[in-house]
Amino acid sequence: MPRVAYVNGRYLPHASAGVHIEDRGYQFADGVYEVCEVARGFIVDMRGHLDRLDRSLRELKIGWPMSRSALEVVIGEVVRRNRVKNGLVYLQVTRGVAGRDFLFPAGVSPSLVVTAKKVDPSVGAKRAENGIKVITVPENRWDRVDIKTVGLLPNVLAKEAARAAGAQEAWFVDRDGNVTEGGSSNAWIVTKDGVLVTRPADRGILRGITRTTLFNVAGKLGLKVEERAFTVAEAKAAREAFISSATTVATPVVAIDGEPIANGHPGSIVLSLRNAFFDVAEKRQA
Ligand code: PDD
Repeated sequence: MPRVAYVNGRYLPHASAGVHIEDRGYQFADGVYEVCEVARGFIVDMRGHLDRLDRSLRELKIGWPMSRSALEVVIGEVVRRNRVKNGLVYLQVTRGVAGRDFLFPAGVSPSLVVTAKKVDPSVGAKRAENGIKVITVPENRWDRVDIKTVGLLPNVLAKEAARAAGAQEAWFVDRDGNVTEGGSSNAWIVTKDGVLVTRPADRGILRGITRTTLFNVAGKLGLKVEERAFTVAEAKAAREAFISSATTVATPVVAIDGEPIANGHPGSIVLSLRNAFFDVAEKRQA
């Protein structure tokens, strides 16, 4: 019996069911999910799972893809169509499909996928009989920002907060009050002595390719670069501040938390870096 998946209003063959490549779940991990156990034909703790789904959706400001009662019907229907007596039912709601942009898209409906899977109950029973082994690992969830993963939900939320505050980027600040990096860019300042400062690319930030090229650009322009942490206070008192990324090259920052940097206008050093960038960066014929 072929498996059936519910995808945005349609029951489709599981093997060929899919969401659009620009679904925000795929692009940004901008979505939530629930898994309910199905045991002896009953969906277990559905109320609790849907309550938590409601909370997760509210926290991320994603709307319900349909009413709760309609979703309950779909869940039951997917379990029935897949003839699952023992197993699980999985549901995933994302912010929907939109051209890739960190900011919340306007006028987009959430995506909903519901699938169900049979699980042989004797497998769990056997495990319970024998017990299981665990290993320990460092608690590094949300911590591996050095890897360019699509797990960008915190970045999405930070950039949306920036937009709400009338800004174009958010700078993350660590527990020690040091700036780490931007939601989608690396963070830099220029000291009063004209030294460029950016955080070392250890595990606290993504090692930007543009950042690395800018080191060479700075060298060409005879500018000194220091890789060290800097505080928000130091950034606010800096001669210049800027961001770097593949999409922004080097772009001046003129205000942090509403406070102007220097005279509140783009600095000359960042603009000289920006101008010299393409002379130094690798350019391959498209
Ligand atoms: N973002 N830090 C973060 C968190 C980023 O997402 C990016 C780039 C950078 C800069 O890396 P690079 O110089 O290699 O672009 C730093 C891209 C532009 C994006 O997600 O749209």
